[in-house]
Amino acid sequence: MKRIRGVVAATAILILIGSAHAAGKATQAGIASAHVLATQAGFEVIGKGGNAFDAAVAVASTLSVVEPQSSGLGGGGLFLLHRASDGKQVMVDARETAPAAVDRKDYVDAQGNADRDHSINGPLSAAIPGEVAGLVWIAQHYGKLPLKTSLAPAIRIAREGFKPDARFLKELAMRKEVIERYPGSAALYLVNGRAPKAGWTFRSPDLARVLERVAAEGKDGFYRGEVARTLVDGVRKAGGNWSLDDLSGYTVKEREPITFDYRGWHIVSAAPPSSGGIALAEMFNILGGYDLARLDRVHRVHLMVEAMRRAFRDRAEYLGDPDFVQMPITRLLSIDYAAGLRASIHPDKATPSDLLPPFLVDEQGSHTSHFSIIDAEGNLVAGTQTVNLIFGSGLVVPGTGFVLNDEMDDFALVPGKPNAFGLPGNEHNAPRPGSRPLSSMSPSFVIGADRIGVIGTPGGSRIITMVLEGIFGFIEGQSPAQIVANPRFHHQYLPDVISAEKGAFTREEVKELEAMGHKLSESERPWGFMNVVSRDRKTGVTQAASDPRGDSGSGIVK
Ligand code: DON
Repeated sequence: MKRIRGVVAATAILILIGSAHAAGKATQAGIASAHVLATQAGFEVIGKGGNAFDAAVAVASTLSVVEPQSSGLGGGGLFLLHRASDGKQVMVDARETAPAAVDRKDYVDAQGNADRDHSINGPLSAAIPGEVAGLVWIAQHYGKLPLKTSLAPAIRIAREGFKPDARFLKELAMRKEVIERYPGSAALYLVNGRAPKAGWTFRSPDLARVLERVAAEGKDGFYRGEVARTLVDGVRKAGGNWSLDDLSGYTVKEREPITFDYRGWHIVSAAPPSSGGIALAEMFNILGGYDLARLDRVHRVHLMVEAMRRAFRDRAEYLGDPDFVQMPITRLLSIDYAAGLRASIHPDKATPSDLLPPFLVDEQGSHTSHFSIIDAEGNLVAGTQTVNLIFGSGLVVPGTGFVLNDEMDDFALVPGKPNAFGLPGNEHNAPRPGSRPLSSMSPSFVIGADRIGVIGTPGGSRIITMVLEGIFGFIEGQSPAQIVANPRFHHQYLPDVISAEKGAFTREEVKELEAMGHKLSESERPWGFMNVVSRDRKTGVTQAASDPRGDSGSGIVK
C-alpha cells in the first residue's frame, strides 16, 4: 500500500514541475559551476535565447578550456536533464568506452602486480572520449541554438586565453612529472619546461580549432576526419591502442534515470554505468526506516555510515556497464531488500567490513567537474563531467589542445585490486571492447512539493556520499550556500573507516563513534566541489551556490 502511495505522490510532483513554468513565477536562471567564466558562458547563451540545455553546452565546453585538470574534450560525462515542456527526464550517458584492443595484461607488470602507472598515466589509461558526442547530442536534441552559438564562449576563451587561478596552477604542478613525459602536454601546459606561475596567460588555439570543427560538423568533426586521425596517430605513437573505428563507433546512450522517493521527496539520479543513483536509492531506502530527525547526531551519522557501507559493498559486487552485464537492479532498488539490510544494522554498534581484505584509499589528487543549471522555463540540468584524475592521463596529442582522460582506471583492471579511489571490483566491471567503466558520478535532482534542487560534485567514490549528505541538507531546508559549505564524511565499505573532513565531527562525537566500534580518519585536504541550484516553486526564488572549497563566486542567479 505504502509503495503505491509513493508512486502517486511522485507523479503528482512531476506534474507540478511541468506546471512550474505555467505559473510564470520564475524569471531568473541559476547556474553554479566550478569556474566563473563557465557560469558566465552559460548566461551568455541564455542571453542569446538559449535554454538550460544550450547553457549546459556552453558551461561544459568552457569548463574544458578553463578547468582542463577536471574535465574536457578528452573525457566524458553524465548529464541529467529535465525538460519542463513535457516533463521528460533523461540521463545523457557520454561516458568513455574501452578501445576494442583493450587487454587486461597491459595493466599488470612483469611480476604479476597491478601496474598502476599504466592504469592512471599515459596512453593505456585513456578510454575513448564521450564528452563531445554528449554535448552535440544535448545541443541537437534539447537545445534551441546552433552549436556555433553555444560553443562560441569556449572557442573565444581558448583562443584569447585567460589567467588560470591558484587551484589550476597548484594542480598542474602536482601532475608535472607526467605532463613532461609527453611533448604535446609539455608544450601546452609548461613554460620552458617549468610549471607556470601566477600571472601566466593560458591559450589553447588547437583546442579552439577542434571546437570550431565540432561547431561546424557536429559529432563527425571530432570522431571522424582529421581530429580523429590525429588522436589515433598520437595515442598509438605514445604506446596506446586506439583505432579509428573506436572513435567513429562511439555513441551516446540515453538512459532512464534512477528514481526513488524519500519521505515525500522525489529524487532523480544517475543510472548505470554510474553506481551513484543505485547507491543513493539503497542508502535512502535503508534510512527511510528510521526517524533520523529524532536521533542525536552521533546515532544519525552511525546509521548513515552503516547505509553507506552496505551500498558500497553492493556497488563493488554487482555494478557495471548495463550494455554488457546483468545487474539485480530491481532487487537493489527494492524497499524490501533495504529493509533486510536495515535489519542487519545494530543501533549502537558498527558492523565490521571484514568480507574483503582491507586496502588503503589512494590519497593522490583527483578531479572532475559538476555544474547545476535551472532556467526560467524550469528546465533542469545536472552535469558531471570528468577526465578522472587531475589532468587525466597527462597525455595531450600534439595539435589537439586537450588532455586525454585516464578513465580506464575506473574499470576493475585487476580483479579485486582497488583503483585510485580505493574501489575494488569484479567481472561486472571488467574492461571489454566498447564497454563503459563503472562511475560514481551522481548528478541529481531533488523534487519536493515546494522546492526543487539540482546537485552534484566531483570527488571519486566520495561523490555518492557527498550527494547523500547534500540531499539531506536540502530536504532539511538548508540553502544551497549552506549545503555546499557543510563539512563531509564518508564510508565506502573498504577500507573500513569513516573518513572525514576537518571539522566534520567534534571531539566528543569522535569518541562516541569510536565507542560504537567505528574507526575514523581525518582527511588532510578538503573534498569535493559541490555546485547546487534551487528554486522555490511558490515564490519562484532561485538560488545558486558554488563550493567555498573552490571558486565560490561561480554560483550566480540572474
Ligand atoms: O566516474 C567516476 O566515478 C570517476 N572517474 C570520477 C573522478 C572524480 O570525481 C575525481 N574527482 N575528484
